[in-house]
Amino acid sequence: QLILRSDYKPFPWLLPDVSLDFKLSLEKTRVSSRLEVQRNPNAVPSPVLELNGDGITPLEVLIDGEVVNSWVLEDDKLLISLSGEAHAVEVVTEINPSTNSQLMGLYASNGMLCTQCEAEGFRRITFFPDRPDVLSTYSVRMSGDSVQFPVLLANGNCVASGRHQDGTHWAEWHDPWPKPSYLFALVAGDLVARKDQFTTMSGKNVELAIWVREGDLERTEHAMESLKRAMKWDEEAFGREYDLDLFNVVAVSDFNMGAMENKGLNIFNTKYVLAEPDTATDGDYDAIEGVIGHEYFHNWSGNRITCRDWFQLSLKEGFTVLRDQLFSQDMGSAPVKRIEDVRVLRSIQFPEDSGPLAHPIRPDSFREISNFYTSTIYNKGAEVIRMMRTMAGEERFRKGTDLYFDRHDGEAATCEDFVQSIEDGAGLDLTQFRLWYSQAGTPKVTVRQEQDGTTTRLHLTQSVPPTPGQMDKKPMPIPLALALFDRQTEEHRGEELIVLNEAEQSFEFSDYDAAPIISLNRGFSSPISIERNVPREDLVFLAARDDDPFARYEAMQDLVVSHLVSALRGVLSDADRADGQEAILKAFSAILEDSALDDLMRGELLILPSPAYLSEQLETSNPQAIHEERERLKAWLGTQCAGQFEALHQRASGGAYSRDAAARGLRKLKAQALIYLAAGCPEKAAKMAAAQYHSADNMTDRQSALIALAGLDVPEREEVLDAFYKRYQGDALAIDKWFSIQAQSLHPKAIEHVKALAKHPDFTLKNPNRVRSLYMAFAANPHAFHAADGEGYRMIADCILALDPINPQTAARFVPPLGRWRRIEPGRAALMRAELERIADAKQLSRDTFEQVSRSLG
Ligand code: ARG
Ligand code: ZN
Repeated sequence: QLILRSDYKPFPWLLPDVSLDFKLSLEKTRVSSRLEVQRNPNAVPSPVLELNGDGITPLEVLIDGEVVNSWVLEDDKLLISLSGEAHAVEVVTEINPSTNSQLMGLYASNGMLCTQCEAEGFRRITFFPDRPDVLSTYSVRMSGDSVQFPVLLANGNCVASGRHQDGTHWAEWHDPWPKPSYLFALVAGDLVARKDQFTTMSGKNVELAIWVREGDLERTEHAMESLKRAMKWDEEAFGREYDLDLFNVVAVSDFNMGAMENKGLNIFNTKYVLAEPDTATDGDYDAIEGVIGHEYFHNWSGNRITCRDWFQLSLKEGFTVLRDQLFSQDMGSAPVKRIEDVRVLRSIQFPEDSGPLAHPIRPDSFREISNFYTSTIYNKGAEVIRMMRTMAGEERFRKGTDLYFDRHDGEAATCEDFVQSIEDGAGLDLTQFRLWYSQAGTPKVTVRQEQDGTTTRLHLTQSVPPTPGQMDKKPMPIPLALALFDRQTEEHRGEELIVLNEAEQSFEFSDYDAAPIISLNRGFSSPISIERNVPREDLVFLAARDDDPFARYEAMQDLVVSHLVSALRGVLSDADRADGQEAILKAFSAILEDSALDDLMRGELLILPSPAYLSEQLETSNPQAIHEERERLKAWLGTQCAGQFEALHQRASGGAYSRDAAARGLRKLKAQALIYLAAGCPEKAAKMAAAQYHSADNMTDRQSALIALAGLDVPEREEVLDAFYKRYQGDALAIDKWFSIQAQSLHPKAIEHVKALAKHPDFTLKNPNRVRSLYMAFAANPHAFHAADGEGYRMIADCILALDPINPQTAARFVPPLGRWRRIEPGRAALMRAELERIADAKQLSRDTFEQVSRSLG
């Protein structure tokens, strides 16, 4: 059924203390819980205690030490009648971690036991008020075989441990910080740790440990260094200090998401922990730093202050994404990081916001909360808070966050609490700004520039498009950073910030002899789309000369987007096409030749807009046509700049491996050079890529060579794919790359390759990383997924149907690509719809997949 935000009621009982006892085993784990319950003076009293459960039954229920029968099990809920003010309630359950293929609750992974409780996994372990506003201190005792589970971990500190006569051992853990059940964690297994220490700003010593399987220890150095940097950064940037003596991180290879911020015991997908040059790309290194930071930062934005209910998810996720973005900006190249974040927003969140699954960053209803761990909650949520920071300025924003942490520490808070704190602390009026929390859809801003004597006027309009359940929208405050370039001097007079908060509004700028060139929405100050007619020469100028690196990237993107969109609309004459290409070539050459640019940024500027972002520009589109038009431009640029790209590749090759910015920049250039050359001069590119592969001493170069080759019909393709497989056989993360590179390839036979890979002995539906590496990559492959006969759609629907009974949460994540049908040309749209209907008709669909499919059919 549908759960409504407006139905929130405080829980009638408080549970200040919880004790859990686990008798661990892979097949049969016995869980005894003891809950100290007392009536909540701030809630409507209830004669029953309602505890959530999921797939478990109570073996025994005790009240104040006596076995009772005054309980019923009603749709997975355990209802216990209670007469007094306070009681001790004990419940015993038994679970089988080894058959838990959903990977929620307590499950087995490679012989170890671990947990994932967010959002509603704790109820699969024991009966509990499994909601984020019930905060308790947890004492955990666990015992198990000491050979199978030599390491026993839980939240907080280890307070006692020992051995039993029978070869089992036990440990007791206590977490002094009250927390909701979703932050509970337990790990038992044969693990080894990289250990280190951190001294906090007030001089406290914290023991750090990253736990992995025996052979993986060498690959944990980068994660550990990232963790220490994150701890230091949060002290400096947000004044946040760590609050326990111990901080544990565990890497697990079967994991639904990226990682989880359990108090004092973060659990990570191995993908976001393990790295060494031979197995991890530069991108992987960056992602690890970002996710390690993200989970660590949750200790304050998420754990010390948690969410009142799951509708407030963006309170912790949006804010924590912003914090991890700012951290990564400070650790590396800020402009490059900003561009990457905007690229993700535009190619994932914008399509979500314009499709059937659009929802505000604070949703009003859901059926299954797992479906709301979305790019909107995370990435748009971060953008919304970033806008407040932009309007307040860094210093005042910090006053706002200080006030927030101060005011709500120890509470389960709401998005409104956050906005109120920023309003009070930073001294902003956010009355109208709150609409960003309740309205879905990407605002569209149109711009008309008018020159009247020496006065420049900008006439702006905004509209927020209708989204499911929200037909009429109000104008929102849109902060726009801008600079006006004088045509004579080619300089501007400083960046300004204007805030568009009406449907139509004009802004005046005086003393410009001629219409200035306007650089708008600099740094992507607002997450909007802009429609304006900028002369090509002005875009070429901005792409080459804007002092805001983001704006420079943006001008380059605009130039390419407007060209490709005109081509796709069929409104491009041959002469126009030639002019457009020449303008792009001019901007391209400027970027290739600009000696003042660092190579990381140069590599970034050379990336063409994603097919997903391009299709956003059209009411409906043919994804294969978009793909072909984009490839055509790529091939043309590859031919025109062949000499330059070869020279670039030459310059970037040969140096010793290093992780510094210069060396990473060179690897990025090699990758871009191969991409363009593969499109323009495939035979030459194949030779260069094969040579690069065989001489490479790191994964980044091997991967970029393989990506180029995977798309080509050349003899080197098979040879290098085999070499890669043989080199990395048995290394799950590297083999994931081998699957995904083939599934995403530009090769005309990609569909057949994916079908064969699904039968490969290394493929399994049981491991989420492996499933995603094949099928997510495939769903993002425009020419294969969107094959005109619907074969690609059928394959994704089959994957969803096969995966749903095994792992519904992961299965439901494959629905959105099919849900795009309304924005696709009618022939393909009908085929996509038919597949959604086929899924909807299946018996015993999970709540996760059912919700996504029914919203997508709408
Ligand atoms: N809180 C985690 C993070 O963003 C994500 C956990 C999501 N879990 C889930 N079952 N959807 O760091
Ligand atoms: Zn998070």
